[in-house]
Parts: sequence; structure tokens; C-alpha cells
Amino acid sequence: MIMNTNTFEFTTSEITQADLVSFADERVNLKSDKVEKFRNQVNNLRDQLERYIQEHPDFIFKKLQMSGSLAKGTALSTINDVDVALYVKGDGSPGELAELLPWLVEKLRETFPSIPRDRIYVDGPCVCISFKGTGIDVEISPIMYDGDPNWYGYLWDRRTGKKKLTSIPLHLEFIRKRKEKQPKHFVQVIRLLKWWARQREDDTPGFAFRSFLIELVMAKLADDGVQFDDYLSGLENFFVYIQNSGLKKRIAFTDNYPTSKLPNEKMGVVEIFDPVSSENNVADDVTESQRKLLVDVAEKALDALAYARNCQTKSEAIECWQEVMGSTFNA
Ligand SMILES: Nc1ncnc2c1ncn2[C@@H]1O[C@H](COP(=O)(O)OP(=O)(O)OP(=O)(O)O)[C@@H](O)[C@H]1O
Ligand SMILES: [Mg+2]
Repeated sequence: MIMNTNTFEFTTSEITQADLVSFADERVNLKSDKVEKFRNQVNNLRDQLERYIQEHPDFIFKKLQMSGSLAKGTALSTINDVDVALYVKGDGSPGELAELLPWLVEKLRETFPSIPRDRIYVDGPCVCISFKGTGIDVEISPIMYDGDPNWYGYLWDRRTGKKKLTSIPLHLEFIRKRKEKQPKHFVQVIRLLKWWARQREDDTPGFAFRSFLIELVMAKLADDGVQFDDYLSGLENFFVYIQNSGLKKRIAFTDNYPTSKLPNEKMGVVEIFDPVSSENNVADDVTESQRKLLVDVAEKALDALAYARNCQTKSEAIECWQEVMGSTFNA
């Protein structure tokens, strides 16, 4: 499965690892000053909520936790909102999202009286708190929580609206373990792949592959021993896996439960199980045509990268890379 990256040893690739590092730094990655700004904004809200909880120990909100790419270190430069999970005690609150969200808006307005009321509103499957000064939108997803020590609770999947039992802190722990084994590089290849997926969402009708699934496939490869310190071969390894497996092989992890806990029956066209919950196939919304399309675009990416390796001039190689990473790719 691991690709021989030196098929043509007599040629040297026009696009080097240093070029890819620069592209990632300049285009793909969220700049560290912004990371700081976003984090401070969320920490500020969290601290305010914690003070409120101390004064009102029976309050229905239990905790506010950064949950998405910013928390995992996989955010792209194009991010415009921060994902936050809000743990809400089940009893006394509406059980359906459509009623829960407007109810949360009212409760959040009470909890944060210093934020203008019109800056807290329902936004799709979340409640948004929009900060005028910093221009940051904090997107709050409720989690129905019943006191579990590992912070298991029910969240509504943003794409499908399905209710799922899971634990955000255990997800963060899961990613952290892989990051520790391959500092910098594991998340960098994830960010490059997320960037690739954004390009395909823009130019390939019907294409969808959510970030969390990219991360889980990357975790599987890392656990299988793939090294990501060379970004070109890291990307190729991901695409080769998609091509060879067709994503027809079940992916699961034993960090939090044994594989014997997984359901015997097939749970979807693609099965990529939540590493913290054996009943949750995170890929359960992927259709057969999306799966085929994904394999197709992975093959195209592999072709373009193979071609780029053998280009005689840098400008030709850049063109090949632009097919994969979009028109802003440069070297
Ligand atoms: N179906 C799901 N099952 C379990 N947890 C989920 C599910 N969907 C999202 N999550 C949780 O929400 C987090 C955020 O995932 P999401 O796919 O929204 O992307 P992200 O990491 O914020 O990336 P980006 O917003 O940059 O695309 C995940 O890390 C996971 O903890
Ligand atoms: Mg996100």
C-alpha cells in the first residue's frame, strides 16, 4: 500500500518539499495570530460561562468546549467561524433541535448579557454568536448531556441532522495521540488534504468528503505506519489508499472499544466508525455515487502528482499541482 516514491530516481521533482511547506504556510494554514485571536474569543466566552455556572450550579449549561478544526489544529486559512460545543442538561430543555435552538438563543442572551441580543441568533443547525469587533462568528452546537464523566452526549450532525452519541474531548484525545507521534506533519498533510477537498467541492458537482472523515482515514494510515514527513508522498499515500480500497473496507480503531463491539451488519456504503462510539458510522451519509466520485478524483490527483514528478520544467509541474490544489498553488 505504501507507494514507492522514487519510481523515476533519475529525475528530481521540480516541486520540492520546501515548496510544499511554503505553499502550506502562505495559503493553506490558518496564521498563528488568527488562531490566537479565535482561541481568545472562545476562552473568554468559556470563562464567562464558568463564572455563571459557579454562581448558578444547577444551570442547564454545563460546559463550553472548542470542538472543530481549531481545537484539533487542522484549521484552514479560509475558516470564518469557530466551532464550539455547548453541553446542555437534558431535562427541562426541548428534545428536538428545531425547538432547542431558539430556546438556547434566549438562554444564551441571559447568560451573556453584555453581548447585544441581535448578535446571538439561530444559524442553520447552530446558534451563532457574532462578534462585531473581531469579526469572529462562534458557531455553537448543543450537546445533550447527562453527566457522563467522559463527556459523552448526543450531538446533531451538522450535515445530516442525525442525533449521535459521542464525546468531543475523546475525539480531541484521539487526534492528539496521532499528532504526538508525528508532530507537525500529521496535521499538515490533513490540512493539505482538506484544501484539496475544498477545491473539488468547488469544481466537481456532487463531490463531498467531510473533514472528520479525512482525519479518520489519515489516522488509519498513521496507525498502519505511514510517515507523513514528506508531504508529496503523504498525499500520495492517502490517494493510493482511497484508490486501492475504494473505501469499501471498514475502518475502525481500538483506542476506546474492541472491534468485537462493532455491528456485524453493514452500516453504510462507506464505514468509518467513530473512534469513541462503536455504533456511530461517521460515513453513514456517503452515497455510492459519492464514493465512486471520491475514488475517481483521488485517481485524478494521483495522476497529476505522478505527472508533476516527471515534468521537465517547473512551470509545467506547477500546472499539474494546480489541478490538485487549485489555481493559488505556486512554487
Ligand atoms: N457524525 C459525527 N459523529 C461524531 N462526531 C462528529 C460528527 N460530526 C462532527 N463531529 C465532531 O465535530 C467535530 C468537527 O467536525 P467537522 O467535520 O465539522 O469539521 P472540522 O474539523 O471543524 O473541519 P472544517 O470545519 O474545517 O471542515 C469533529 O472533530 C467531531 O468531534
Ligand atoms: Mg469546522
